[in-house]
Amino acid sequence: MISFDQVNGIFHLSNNKISYLMQIEEGNTLSHLYYGAPIPSYSGIRSYPRMDRSFSPNLPGAQDRLFSLDTLPQEYPTFGTGDFRSPAIQIRNTDGSSAQSLQYSHYKIVKEKPNLEGLPQTFGEDSETLIIFLEDAISQVQVQLNYTIFSNEPVIARSVQIHNQSDQGIQLEKVSSASIDFAKEEFELLHLPGGYSRERMLEKQPVPAGTIQLTSNRGASSHHQNPFFALAHPHTTETNGEAYGFLLIYSGNHESTIEKDSFDQIRAQIGISPLNFCWSLSPGESFQSPEALITYSNAGLQELSAAFYEVLHKHIIRSTYKEQERPVLINNWEATFFDFDRERLTKILDRAKEIGVELFVLDDGWFGHRDDDRSSLGDWFEYPGKIAGGLADFSKEVHEKGLKFGIWVEPEMISQDSELFNKHPDWIIHVPGRPAAPGRDQFILDLSRKEVQDNLYQQLKKLFSSIEIDYVKWDMNRNMTDVFSQQLDANQQGEVAHRYILGLYSLLERLTTEFPTILFESCAGGGGRFDAGMLYYMPQVWTSDNTDPICRIQIQSGTSLVYPISTMGAHIADIPSHQTRRKTPIETRSDVASSGLLGLELDLAKLDSDDLNVLKMKINFYKANRVLIQFGNFIRLLSPFENNDAAWSFISHDQSECLVYYFQTLQQPEPAFKPLKLRGLDPYAIYQSDAGDITATGAELMQLGIWVNQQKHGDFYSSALKFNKIGEIDNADAND
Ligand code: GLA
Repeated sequence: MISFDQVNGIFHLSNNKISYLMQIEEGNTLSHLYYGAPIPSYSGIRSYPRMDRSFSPNLPGAQDRLFSLDTLPQEYPTFGTGDFRSPAIQIRNTDGSSAQSLQYSHYKIVKEKPNLEGLPQTFGEDSETLIIFLEDAISQVQVQLNYTIFSNEPVIARSVQIHNQSDQGIQLEKVSSASIDFAKEEFELLHLPGGYSRERMLEKQPVPAGTIQLTSNRGASSHHQNPFFALAHPHTTETNGEAYGFLLIYSGNHESTIEKDSFDQIRAQIGISPLNFCWSLSPGESFQSPEALITYSNAGLQELSAAFYEVLHKHIIRSTYKEQERPVLINNWEATFFDFDRERLTKILDRAKEIGVELFVLDDGWFGHRDDDRSSLGDWFEYPGKIAGGLADFSKEVHEKGLKFGIWVEPEMISQDSELFNKHPDWIIHVPGRPAAPGRDQFILDLSRKEVQDNLYQQLKKLFSSIEIDYVKWDMNRNMTDVFSQQLDANQQGEVAHRYILGLYSLLERLTTEFPTILFESCAGGGGRFDAGMLYYMPQVWTSDNTDPICRIQIQSGTSLVYPISTMGAHIADIPSHQTRRKTPIETRSDVASSGLLGLELDLAKLDSDDLNVLKMKINFYKANRVLIQFGNFIRLLSPFENNDAAWSFISHDQSECLVYYFQTLQQPEPAFKPLKLRGLDPYAIYQSDAGDITATGAELMQLGIWVNQQKHGDFYSSALKFNKIGEIDNADAND
């Protein structure tokens, strides 16, 4: 998969889906030649043209003016020595200077993927890793570039290690996990910005001249900007066109830079955000960056998404649950908020059992003395008397009734009104002498400190061991301000945000290893930390606190650009919606939630028998089609970001089953009839709809399509159409 042409200094990583080419050029600079569809062999045709460019400096001692770092497409560009574009790395040397020039030194190819200590990372035996060592001879900094390629995936996983080989301290001010320069090409930028309750709202725009930065400096990957972007050729659709996807396997501050230079070349970088990042590296010390994935598709966005799904599923998510059908759950949050007792919970539980729910999740308010969101975070022991008979007894009852039991925790946080705060007021992240900004009346524990991690580990271990528990919802409900750790020196305060994430990962590693039978679901005020880093520890995520199905169609569609259906928690909630006050039919709420990991989040005791019957039917249908939905091929058919309606489908790997969901936001008066063209079917198979009203070949369903709005259905309408293969036409006849 990896070869090195010693004579011409060319590295070539390739498999049956991609090729990635680099070359050692003048001054031992590592240039980027190509990333894209596979090239069986490389002749040298992409060698970068030489030309004297005004205002672009040359290498020291150069004989001519034809070569400049300012224009050369590079692999890991530096600052201050001739390239004026965005550097991949910035180092403050002991003398205060920040010029660097990284030259190729040597390389290694290893079969076993190097471990990126303390970080979530890709794994898998079917991989090879190229390690290229670059060095700055003056500052004696060595940069190790890691490139992993898998035998069958259109992806390169990249990370970087910095070694200080000098006898003086240096400071890292920016470390990109990956940087790549594209020769002149027109690109559109796709990314997933948003906010609380409106996560991952897909945006698309042409890449303008200049620099775009997509960042989160909130101490979390955030609702506001997912650590992902894609560059796609203009007019790329779901099925056509070339696209590159960039994803950081990280849950903290991040930054992506997309720069179009004066020659229309595009530099794309992704890594930890440099804002307030400053890592001191003493002599002999090393720094490991998070890993980044760069996927490639020459068949549109559907293939790009499929590549991410595959890599996340095969090479990042570790939980034993990843291959298992996920249970239909009920969560009491939007049903009761903090206002519950055992009687109220039992009523919901009993109804849930009747309609086929499999897991009961007790959300916020069961611990310390918490009756609202102002107290008790940090005190992970039972609120005495809140649940008559106690939590352990309730978890037993849930099991006796044939359901699994799960619980909500928010371990990274602390309320001022808590026993933990009374004992350890210095454990919060804040700047001594400066009043810290509360968020939701809570503060963040300094997880960079080992004793804080240990305390949480002990408390949670005790809790998880004292009740019959199958599931944990791990929440995080504010972003980081007043960033400072009392345990670090003044010159290390720029390390706090990253050390916090390392501390979190270490705690998660311990707990998920200790309790492998617990299904962990990550949450951060909904989808405020929906990232590949968290997925390494927890196989699913609460997608958004917004349970309005009309909003959810966009949220789930945006999320699906990168993250597979088997990671997306989706619940049926009450009307009017708590987030929008919108009233939508129970069928629509059910169909949208059934397009993810189905759950319920409403007071079943208040529902009438009609609604309960619909729910029972929808849950049965979901269970019958769960493997198809959770693990089939997911295909976006109509984008909710471009239309007043949306559609998607799930197709079994053998193409014998297909489930289509169609959603209409607002009814138009006298609408145009619209054929919805399916994709991904076997053209020669004959499919029949569940209701028996449509029988057609895959070719017909894909080329002619099905009518979806031939009646006036009204606002907020949804329909589910299930097709099963009932035969096939003779392939030879079809060709006659
Ligand atoms: C966050 C979560 C919700 C719920 C509340 C409880 O907002 O996203 O689902 O658990 O916290 O306080």
